Amino acid sequence: MNNVNTEKLSSARFAQATDAFVEIFTASVSFDQRMAMQDIEGSLAHAQMLCHIGILTATEFADIQTGLAQIKDEIERGEFAWSIKQEDVHMNIEARLTDRIGIAGKKLHTGRSRNDQVATDIRLYLRHEIGVIKNEMSRLQLALLDLAETHADTIMPGFTHLQVAQPVTFGHHLMAWFEMLSRDQERLDDCCKRINVMPLGAAALAGTSYPIDRFMTAQLLGFSRPSNNSLDSVSDRDFAIEFTAAASLIMMHLSRFSEELILWASAQFNFIDIPDAFCTGSSIMPQKKNPDVPELVRGKSGRVTGHLMSLLMLMKGQPLAYNKDNQEDKEPLFDTVDTVVNCLRAFADMMPHVEAKKENMYNSAKRGFATATDLADYLVRKGMAFRDAHEVVGLAVRLGVETQRDLSELSLTELQSFSSEITADVFEILKLEGSVAARKHIGGTAPDTVRAAITAARHQVVSL
Ligand code: ARG
Repeated sequence: MNNVNTEKLSSARFAQATDAFVEIFTASVSFDQRMAMQDIEGSLAHAQMLCHIGILTATEFADIQTGLAQIKDEIERGEFAWSIKQEDVHMNIEARLTDRIGIAGKKLHTGRSRNDQVATDIRLYLRHEIGVIKNEMSRLQLALLDLAETHADTIMPGFTHLQVAQPVTFGHHLMAWFEMLSRDQERLDDCCKRINVMPLGAAALAGTSYPIDRFMTAQLLGFSRPSNNSLDSVSDRDFAIEFTAAASLIMMHLSRFSEELILWASAQFNFIDIPDAFCTGSSIMPQKKNPDVPELVRGKSGRVTGHLMSLLMLMKGQPLAYNKDNQEDKEPLFDTVDTVVNCLRAFADMMPHVEAKKENMYNSAKRGFATATDLADYLVRKGMAFRDAHEVVGLAVRLGVETQRDLSELSLTELQSFSSEITADVFEILKLEGSVAARKHIGGTAPDTVRAAITAARHQVVSL
């Protein structure tokens, strides 16, 4: 046993003080103080409800209000003396309250346990942070919409297998990113429905014998309703896991965007310029300009997925109801929030300054026989079966490869040697502009269709 600390016994039940190392080992205040504001908010609502049902007098409630307001101030000014002797954020605040206001402070915990208190705090915390995340996401979405609008006509190669496939517009590509983020937003909203249910009143696990009014507390805290089962509400952290899963998907998307930006910024692609403010140089190679921000975002996606795994593993072995294991939910959760907010912020700040090198994009689409499908479709319109057309175009592409020319650069006679159906109008459809303009159905890459998608998307972001 380490040095026995005789200054404090954790409760009258204990004949021995907590082992000094165990005290440090079990304390969570170093990280859970992040939920101090939510803890105070929850305590105020609980106290108001206790006053309403006659457990606290009006004076006691008023003292609690004053005391908690002063504590809030102390915390905000950075003057609150957090102590691991008080283990966690909840006991630190309660102890300080009792120091300040005496007996009323000791009554605050009536009909409540840290188990329902902490579950409530996390929910309040997440609800708030999801708002912050959604804001950053909307900022990024708006940046994408602006860039997409500028580049509704900008032609680039679309890829499958990272091989040039068919021409698309850069605006269309950016709108694909926008769609991914829209689904991410929806997932956050959906997850909020389940976060916004109030555990307070579950007490330690079985509820309480006081005539509490859980609907009142829920309403005061802006929860949609009190939880249905006391055992469940103090123990499960599925809502936090769900949030982390949604966050992992956001990071997975940001990681994909990052990968594309990194590729496009390379000399080999040379499609975009990432402004200097978002890049760094190399300490040894003077010519280097590295796309650090997207690289870091791609790298950080791994840690969020890691947190998702941590939380799943944390939960899977726990019998009902609360177990101290759950104290381990905070750090992964807080780091998930920080990582997602910071990565979205970096992206939202960076995207408006990303410059597309239109000519390079265009030329790259031209070099990859991107309109081969258009030629096949042309032959189909002239009556050929698609498989035969596919074969004919394959032969034309082979000639192009051998003579290092795009299909549009073959002569009419050369093209006609593959099919007599080909006439002079073929050159119109072999142009990249013609190819993208033809894809004008909903969801297609035609510039006008992309512009319509942007307009619809703007309404969606504004109405968030
Ligand atoms: N710090 C604890 C946590 O994060 C608060 C709940 C503690 N409850 C208990 N019975 N020890 O979960």
